Amino acid sequence: MAEVKFEADRLLLFGATGDLSQRMLLPSLCALHADGLLDADLRIVATARSEMTTKEFRQFAREALEKYLPKNRRGPMADFLNQLSYVPVDATTPEGYDELAKEVGEYDGLAIFLSTAPSLFEPTIAGLKRVGLTKGNARIALEKPLGTDLASSCEINDAVAKAFSEDRIFRIDHYLGKETVQNLLALRFANILLEPVWNSNYVEHVQITVAETVGLESRVAYYDDSGALRDMVQNHMLQLLALVAMEPPTSFEATAVRDEKVKVLRALRPVKAEEVVTGQYRAGAVDGKSVPGYDEELGKDSNTETYVALKAHVDNWRWRGVPFYLRHGKRMPERVTEIVVQFRSIPHSIFEGRGVRTEPNRLVIEIQPKENIQLTMMAKVPGLGNDGLRLRPVPLDIAMPDAFADVVRRIAYERLLLDLVHGDQTLFVRRDEVEAQWEFIDHIRALWTENATQPKPYAAGTWGPSAAIALAERDGVTWHDD
Ligand code: BG6
Repeated sequence: MAEVKFEADRLLLFGATGDLSQRMLLPSLCALHADGLLDADLRIVATARSEMTTKEFRQFAREALEKYLPKNRRGPMADFLNQLSYVPVDATTPEGYDELAKEVGEYDGLAIFLSTAPSLFEPTIAGLKRVGLTKGNARIALEKPLGTDLASSCEINDAVAKAFSEDRIFRIDHYLGKETVQNLLALRFANILLEPVWNSNYVEHVQITVAETVGLESRVAYYDDSGALRDMVQNHMLQLLALVAMEPPTSFEATAVRDEKVKVLRALRPVKAEEVVTGQYRAGAVDGKSVPGYDEELGKDSNTETYVALKAHVDNWRWRGVPFYLRHGKRMPERVTEIVVQFRSIPHSIFEGRGVRTEPNRLVIEIQPKENIQLTMMAKVPGLGNDGLRLRPVPLDIAMPDAFADVVRRIAYERLLLDLVHGDQTLFVRRDEVEAQWEFIDHIRALWTENATQPKPYAAGTWGPSAAIALAERDGVTWHDD
């Protein structure tokens, strides 16, 4: 049975003057508006601490849109800006919320988006509750980081649960809004061909890589407290792993999908110390430009990791014995996010007698910057040739990027904001998932503390410490495209 969804007629945006709002949220809302996907009656109430009038905020929003949204996606911008109003609120003082409630007015469905520091979640929710903005069809979206470990994550979740039931809490993992991530579900569950081979009998290992060329950027304090493991592996990478490894859900509905993901996350075997490598970048060159080391960028010595590689196992029937290699780093040679499913070799080669080698099939799901899915199959090189039979791996483009070249490339937040307004939780993370993710991560951090692990240095613009290459090579595995 389809889950009940409620359309919101009010969107309340906290942290509206922040970086995420300028780069992603306002551009996404404007683009949705331009495509006629937002109801003309939807009123967007923006709030932040800065004293500003609605007129000033509209100007602020206009500048953000001109900077971050391509011109051909802006549509009638003035119409969109007219849907915005602004109320300054200091989230920690209860009085400010009365004004906000007045501006929101009567609603049929209210969607609230907290794009603020998690330390403000509790006072914000208390303030909203006091003025009745948690009632009826009010639902709330929360941005990461949802805690720094399992205990602090539970505290946040408990505080939110005091005002919103779980079916009205939308935890964002923006990777779930990415087109190719959803395409992975289509590939797995709209085709019959892959399912019979999607298990330990046919899959030799899986690799998930999220490589970034950027360094610390402007988020010095946050990043140095967090580190690569908690910033990227705890959320985005474990979600990707769950989507690759999950059993087929019975429907594309929130409960069914999330029930299957959480089973995978709970089946993750606690990793051993020798199955994780951490690193921190030193000065080097990225894209031909020299860049400083992490400590120099930070302005002090730090043990925070900017790179993690690990070998995970999903202890269930389907994935018994299949390693999942995950790696993520800042200041890598290129920006790429991809999943590689490496199949096993054929059991017997009829070509071997002729000295012809075959390579095992491989499925590469490139999430960004290209959105592509390629299945590599062996095929014969055409011709008679004196050198006899020749075979070569041929990549089949499954996502057909050329065929969809004129389809608009959307911001991941467009999907998520639209689903929030419609009340569809399928692409949002449920509490039990977040907690299972933290359990896996807390165990790794406990190992680091126990062993006084220090990140290994790697030069910016390289693929991380050599120990990470060795981690895979010990098993006869090479990281894809190193
Ligand atoms: C964020 C992390 O969640 O994801 C950042 O905090 C990271 O450190 C970003 O750069 C990567 O997102 P994307 O969509 O650019 O891959």
